[in-house]
Amino acid sequence: MCGIVAYVGKKNCQNLLIEGIKRLEYRGYDSAGLATIHNGKIRIVRAVGRVANLEDKLESMGGLPGTVGLVHTRWATHGGVTEFNAHPHADDKVGIAVVHNGIIENYATIKTLLEEKGHKFSSQTDTEVLAMLIGELYEGDLESAVQAALREVTGAYAIAVICEKEPGVLVVARKGSPLMVGVGNGEYIVASDGAAIISHTSQAMMLDDYNVVKITADGFRTSTIHNVPVTHKVQQLELELDEIELGSFQHYMRKEIFEQPKALRNTFRGRFNAEEGKVILGGLADHAKELVKAKRIALLGQGTALHAAMIGRYLFEDLAKIPATSEFASEFRYRNPIIEENTVAIAVSQSGETADTLAALHEAKDRGALALGVINVVGSTMARETDAGVYLRVGPEIGVASTKAFVGQVAVLTMIAMWFGRRRFMGANDTGSLLHQLNQIPDKIEKILGYDDLVKKVTERYIERENWLFLGRGYNYPTAMEGALKLKEISYIHAEGMPAAEMKHGPIALINEGMPAVFIANQGKQYEKVMSNIQEVRARGGHVIAVATEGDTAIKRYAEDVLYIPDVPECLSPLLAVVPLQMMAYHAAVLRGHDVDKPRNLAKSVTVE
Ligand code: M6R
Repeated sequence: MCGIVAYVGKKNCQNLLIEGIKRLEYRGYDSAGLATIHNGKIRIVRAVGRVANLEDKLESMGGLPGTVGLVHTRWATHGGVTEFNAHPHADDKVGIAVVHNGIIENYATIKTLLEEKGHKFSSQTDTEVLAMLIGELYEGDLESAVQAALREVTGAYAIAVICEKEPGVLVVARKGSPLMVGVGNGEYIVASDGAAIISHTSQAMMLDDYNVVKITADGFRTSTIHNVPVTHKVQQLELELDEIELGSFQHYMRKEIFEQPKALRNTFRGRFNAEEGKVILGGLADHAKELVKAKRIALLGQGTALHAAMIGRYLFEDLAKIPATSEFASEFRYRNPIIEENTVAIAVSQSGETADTLAALHEAKDRGALALGVINVVGSTMARETDAGVYLRVGPEIGVASTKAFVGQVAVLTMIAMWFGRRRFMGANDTGSLLHQLNQIPDKIEKILGYDDLVKKVTERYIERENWLFLGRGYNYPTAMEGALKLKEISYIHAEGMPAAEMKHGPIALINEGMPAVFIANQGKQYEKVMSNIQEVRARGGHVIAVATEGDTAIKRYAEDVLYIPDVPECLSPLLAVVPLQMMAYHAAVLRGHDVDKPRNLAKSVTVE
């Protein structure tokens, strides 16, 4: 939520800043703004909408020269989507400009105090309050003023600040929102994500909470908000440029759907010992002794990650025979959860930055749980704050709609459940044959991807319908939820996902002539029951689109459309069943003319509670 790029060095930075912020547009795209210092003056240009609008504006005015600058793309929290509310925000006293990602929770109190001192505000944002506060506390040293201001605020922030009185200085800081400093040759590029840095340097320094860095073209100094010096290692960014480029694909979402076989092969690489039926998870090794004593697993996540966590619950109970729960991290956090001895909390997250999940993780740790992470972004806040964990290794996910991260999360949770199972009661043969099946999932996904034209045709048939149902049972009840989420978030079609059995307890009233009902009807324990639910929908005029197991020709009698997936053990079926649902959502959004990768009102990573 909100992207930041800032530069200090020896070259004019406008183009570099624009190129960088375009790579971070997935973080928010309500408005954008850029500021540089030139001849001792800060100039700010802002525009509502995408970065392209800002670029047009800059071009029409001849651009902003300057070797120190910052740029921002916004996902609105405080105040509507207007140019006044777009960042950078300036103070009214010293000549300071600030970009910010996060939320200053006590901004209203500070604003009142500043108004009493005569400051006049032109936006409704918390960020302008921070800019004014830094200006108010400025006594000739920007770094000290930023430290002093941050000692006054509560909430989350990643900020970059420049000041007319110190034209070669950039000060950045973080607490709760990601920020890193790319270290180049005589230049520094600060960004919310390595994607904005990697084309310039692969060396970067990850900031910790409460770090403040003063940067000039000649070097940097890191301290805390209390001015205690901090030493940081500059490290190699684990990112390749081609991973973040669109290549021949029209959208990141499509690229990421089609990348799933490759992504999963990467997830599995080096982690299977098929002969001994063992899963090798280095990230759990240090805590193996505590983990095997686990009596309860609490899986936490939001959105797509929660759906993966819900599947995780089934996996832990089936494969490891450990009681497990899965729930919205946001609800867990505030409901006084009971954490018994030997509870393992697992935070599931692509970004590792989701505020709700992070807060739940803190809560679980405070109550004595051992915290594991199932996370994609290496070095993210959650990755650093968990005791142990397993990375997804699916590569950067840029499309706002999560796809390859979902299959990565489910695959990693399967491996963790097997890791536990093998140490409890599963024999080498049980795990060995499941590992063999798991290893074949990438090839099977490739086969499903080959049906893309068919999925598109089926989607076209229902594209005018405004209400859809997604229904499944057991392992594929969460898959149905995920199918519905994918459809609604990018095509803006109303869709509900639920256990197929739940439909007759109320939602069945929604079914009318021609309403599409997508059933995950693969062969499994509850196949017959799903068939009955299909009949119930058809009896009321609904049209059934079935995701079924290859070879099930009988289902054609009951479903208007059938999308086949290869046969796999039931516990692995969500990894396949979700793929046609992702493809349907993608085609629906394209057919309806929506911006697939930047759906309205959304941002890739939600760093506010
Ligand atoms: O980064 P996270 O996995 O923690 O994000 C959680 C949700 O915000 C995320 O999965 C969201 O639901 C997706 N955009 C859905 O496609």
